[in-house]
Amino acid sequence: MTFTSAIMWLPSRFSFKFSVSALRRGVPPSYPHVVRRGGCNTAAFMPEAAGFEGVSGRAALQEFSVSNSEDFWAAVARHRLSWMQPFHTVQDCDLSRGRIKWFQGGMLNVSVNCLDRQVHIRPERVALIWERDERGSEVRYTYRELLEMTCRVGNLLKRHGVRKGDCVTIYMPTCPLAVASMLACARIGAAHNVVFAGFSADALAERIRDAQSSIVITMNQGVRGGKVTELKKTVDTAVQSCPTVRHVFVAMRTETLVPMTDRDVLMDEEMLKEDVVCEPAAMNSEDVLFLLYTSGSTGKPKGLVHTQAGYLLYAALTQRYVFSYHDGDVFGCVADIGWITGHSYIVYGPLANGATTVLFESTPVYPDPGRYWETVERLKINQFYGAPTAIRLLLKYGDQWVNKYDRSSLKTLGSVGEPINTEAWEWYHRVVGEGRCPVVDTWWQTETGGICIAPKPSEPDEEIVPGMAMRPFFGIKPVLMDTEGKVLTANNTSGALCIAQPWPGMARTIHNNHERFIETYCQPYPGYFFTGDGAYRSPKGYYQITGRLDDVINVSGHRIGTAEIEDVVNQCSAVAESAVIGYSHDIKGQGIYAFVVLKKNMKIKEEDLYKQLNSVVSEKIAKYACPDFILLVKRLPKTRSGKIMRRVLRKVVESDLDSLGDLSTLDDPAAVQEIIEGHSKISMK
Ligand code: WTA
Repeated sequence: MTFTSAIMWLPSRFSFKFSVSALRRGVPPSYPHVVRRGGCNTAAFMPEAAGFEGVSGRAALQEFSVSNSEDFWAAVARHRLSWMQPFHTVQDCDLSRGRIKWFQGGMLNVSVNCLDRQVHIRPERVALIWERDERGSEVRYTYRELLEMTCRVGNLLKRHGVRKGDCVTIYMPTCPLAVASMLACARIGAAHNVVFAGFSADALAERIRDAQSSIVITMNQGVRGGKVTELKKTVDTAVQSCPTVRHVFVAMRTETLVPMTDRDVLMDEEMLKEDVVCEPAAMNSEDVLFLLYTSGSTGKPKGLVHTQAGYLLYAALTQRYVFSYHDGDVFGCVADIGWITGHSYIVYGPLANGATTVLFESTPVYPDPGRYWETVERLKINQFYGAPTAIRLLLKYGDQWVNKYDRSSLKTLGSVGEPINTEAWEWYHRVVGEGRCPVVDTWWQTETGGICIAPKPSEPDEEIVPGMAMRPFFGIKPVLMDTEGKVLTANNTSGALCIAQPWPGMARTIHNNHERFIETYCQPYPGYFFTGDGAYRSPKGYYQITGRLDDVINVSGHRIGTAEIEDVVNQCSAVAESAVIGYSHDIKGQGIYAFVVLKKNMKIKEEDLYKQLNSVVSEKIAKYACPDFILLVKRLPKTRSGKIMRRVLRKVVESDLDSLGDLSTLDDPAAVQEIIEGHSKISMK
């Protein structure tokens, strides 16, 4: 078999056949003329607000968006999305029953909103800048080229039997073809399931099976930080246990040939045979756009479901207002498309707003710790959005790596995925942003679809407090709950963070498990959406996230359930049981600490056991889920009913022995003493 290498990785210069019918149905020639009636600068800030009687200023707009939620979202949805058929009902939601429906009756196509309408106005605007791992070799794709590529993939999927309602799994790093694949699914009405390309074959297989995909899209190899990963090989292993998979599309990122079977399709070659026009499917607002698996507090990852109109609208509105994005800006979100941040702020939000969005394939330290800032200078990035873990790492390398490069293009700096400590926040603000760029610490989740709490939008002169997400976004009404489930109304208080009313961006269900969706998010505080996080509300009413309330830990911004790791550790033949906790780690935010009890009479060298445990965790989940510390113990602290007391383990690891609490309820209080002694021999440095 012959290989044509990397054809689709360079923009083709094919003449563009315009999909006129799609445009006629989908795209108004320009936004409707807005009559100014509201507050004077409010309408300039948000044109729709001109129709909101008596609303002046951003705080008033937020207030209006919550108290007149339907009016607010109806106006925004009409104004910012292109509909094939208008919606007749703004919302039909009942949080207590887990029923969430927005913009019913409306029909649209997400790829038309992200591509065709830009092509109609500015076909030659750059949609994607692919910042390849090899520094200085970036590739630009215009909106016209991205639409063309998307149509070809859409037609290829159709030719291989993908129909409306099917789900396609995408196992690719951040790259243009991954974006085109996501949009191609949206174009033909299929759902996508992007699986982070760092996941193991087992983790991938579990997600393919749950999504029942017949097609998997991957690459021969991935390239990141100068290292090659064998993506196709991982897919080959995964699909052995996935009977639903009929074809694997393989794109070429490197020149290396990989073994191909009859099941495999050479994507670059086959795409060239396809037409550059692909009629967009008319989708209902509540049809599924994608599944995205994330960790919860049980062993099984949950496939959160996002739908078409509400998700797209929310991603677009937050991208525009939290980051003060303006037409023509270059938006640089350096996340991976395998996570929700990549979905909302690399792909859907920026493209729906006609932005130029950066696809960052590399790492913050490759080939040196100046990589981000050199990229900012070369690509003239205006908004930079990254993770605290990377900021903490770069801070340690010193200011010279930042100062070497011109960052005058930067206007807003964003942070996401985990709490950002004050030191990192201040360095980001003072050194990276030269004290002139607002830093927005954005709180949200896979479940929320887009940013829910962030310092912006706010009036230009309003304060931003380091390390605080601060202000709810439009349409978001956060509440704090006490342990009895009562709403805490006072300020300067902490509680469980819930959201009191539905918003268009929220997840609708868990794929194939609506019961679990209701149990996890709707039942803990009936009538409210429970986030799983705790928060503090300051005397001035600002929110600060204090961390997870469940058994989910956050390693370098990656969510992982302790139960998921325990399930895998317990599969080792030598292990009787285990308990995994997160502890505070200066770079990763949280590290993983595993307490392991061996089976009776088990003789195994500690070293061998550690090796075995690490390899099984990276084989079954991913490398980032490997424990940093493993402590062999004789028994675990348990209640009399057999529940492992992880709280006690956390206190021991935090050396907070004074607040171990009442141990008399433990089955065997002496177990704690043993653990304290064992832990004292471990150096956590
Ligand atoms: C945590 C990532 C503190 C939080 C977008 C949440 C944060 C989980 C912040 C979601 C923040 C996210 N400050 N904690 N600014 N942003 N988190 O689903 O615990 O990967 O519940 O979504 O990350 O992680 P997920």
